[in-house]
Amino acid sequence: GEGLAAIGRANGITFGTAVDSRKLGDAAYAAQVAAEAQLLVPEWEAKWAALQPRQGSFDFGPLGIIASLAQANGKQLRGHALVWHAAMPSWLAEGLAEGAAKARGLLAAHLDGVLPATRPAIRDWDVVNEAIANAEGNPFSARTPAQGDLRDTPWLRALGPGYVEEAFRAARERDRTLRLTYNDYGLEGDNPWAEEKRQRVLRLLRRMVGTQCPVDALGLQAHLLMDEPFRPEPFTVFLRSVRELGLAVLVTELDVREAQQLPAGLAARDAAVAERVRQVIGTALDAGCRTVLTWGLSDKDSWLARDPDVTRKDGQVHRGLPLDEGGARKPMWQALATAF
Ligand code: XIL
Repeated sequence: GEGLAAIGRANGITFGTAVDSRKLGDAAYAAQVAAEAQLLVPEWEAKWAALQPRQGSFDFGPLGIIASLAQANGKQLRGHALVWHAAMPSWLAEGLAEGAAKARGLLAAHLDGVLPATRPAIRDWDVVNEAIANAEGNPFSARTPAQGDLRDTPWLRALGPGYVEEAFRAARERDRTLRLTYNDYGLEGDNPWAEEKRQRVLRLLRRMVGTQCPVDALGLQAHLLMDEPFRPEPFTVFLRSVRELGLAVLVTELDVREAQQLPAGLAARDAAVAERVRQVIGTALDAGCRTVLTWGLSDKDSWLARDPDVTRKDGQVHRGLPLDEGGARKPMWQALATAF
């Protein structure tokens, strides 16, 4: 039957997924992407370490593989991510440690190297990723060191708390028509640490909008946790506040980490995941979100199956994406289709 791309399109919703250029040679993988997604985001190919592995030497090869596929199949692309404390090549970390002037020059050179070269294929970039510090209790990682609301990163240390705004202004200066997105995680749940992070993000976005700093959208990574409670209400209040600032809301990296105590049997596991997706995505769509991307399509290709930070410790593989390991549609796929 029809893919999520077509179902979304019929309802005014753009559905997309993260893709890995190294897998696009696999015909089944490429066919899945072509059938299900209207919007592609490179899983690693547009991160700093991929685009500028050595200072001054840019590599658009892996990103180009995805861009070609997008062009050949009439898909859109979004960029991820310009400024992030992870995926930094070591030369960048060393450069940032040399102080503000040096850091400013490195940021300018990266944007000068990347933005004109990826125009017009990429019209929407995650300009800054994960700048807000986690609050006490966040299970993704121990409480991250912070300065005020911001996570303590090499960028913060080099440029001070204005680095987020600096990055957005620098991006806008180079391309007036680019959609500039602030992207972060841990903003969906119903618990004190998620609420605190929502308030931190709101303070940042309010400050940006209030100082005419160019920001167009909030990206919710939505790496959901079944062990975290969810209620529509606090999430809705947050999304409304973001929308009242004039910003768009996107779901950029949806997937689900299953509970430590798994329900018995695959059917119950998949039903639980689908119900959570229905609630969270339904709430986001009700609040005006019109773009949803999953972080991959099938459980086989998910970072949840391979990244030691997020894999299960009980030998099971998370069933947190719309397609199962064999590429068959799961209840999560149905939940998305129904929500759209
Ligand atoms: C992840 C990739 O999926 C992994 O393969 C890689 O090892 C680490 O990065 N938030 C983000 C993404 O913004 O860039 C991350 O992607 C997942 C969490």
